[in-house]
Amino acid sequence: MGAEFFKWSDEYSVSSEVLDNQHKQLFALTNELYEAFAAGDHKERMGEIIQRLHDYTVYHFKEEEKLLKSKGQALSEEHLAQHQEFIKKIKDISERHKTGRATVTFGLMSFLRSWLTDHIMQTDHKYKPVLESH
Ligand SMILES: [Fe+2]
Repeated sequence: MGAEFFKWSDEYSVSSEVLDNQHKQLFALTNELYEAFAAGDHKERMGEIIQRLHDYTVYHFKEEEKLLKSKGQALSEEHLAQHQEFIKKIKDISERHKTGRATVTFGLMSFLRSWLTDHIMQTDHKYKPVLESH
């Protein structure tokens, strides 16, 4: 196996071990999809990883929203909207992949990587001070 497509860096930390581990898991699933894509794996295999990425993302966003609420800091409307939009996007990718209208491309992989990185660095990091003070 070559270099990791998506590498975790400490700058991504939001000062919560639970959420950092969940973010790491999203990175791992994205890497798994990239490896299947790079190896030219079967469509079914990639479809199965996309499904797991979708399910884990749904779980993670719920946990993130719950954890912040428990610290007295509900996520902003804009933050929640970003979560909804991303889930819709992965659902769409999953549907299109299943029906054969689209497949995994490097463009899709880059989109996943930049969306997750930008979301963590620009949006999740806004709640970081709340977690640091606990
Ligand atoms: Fe978030």
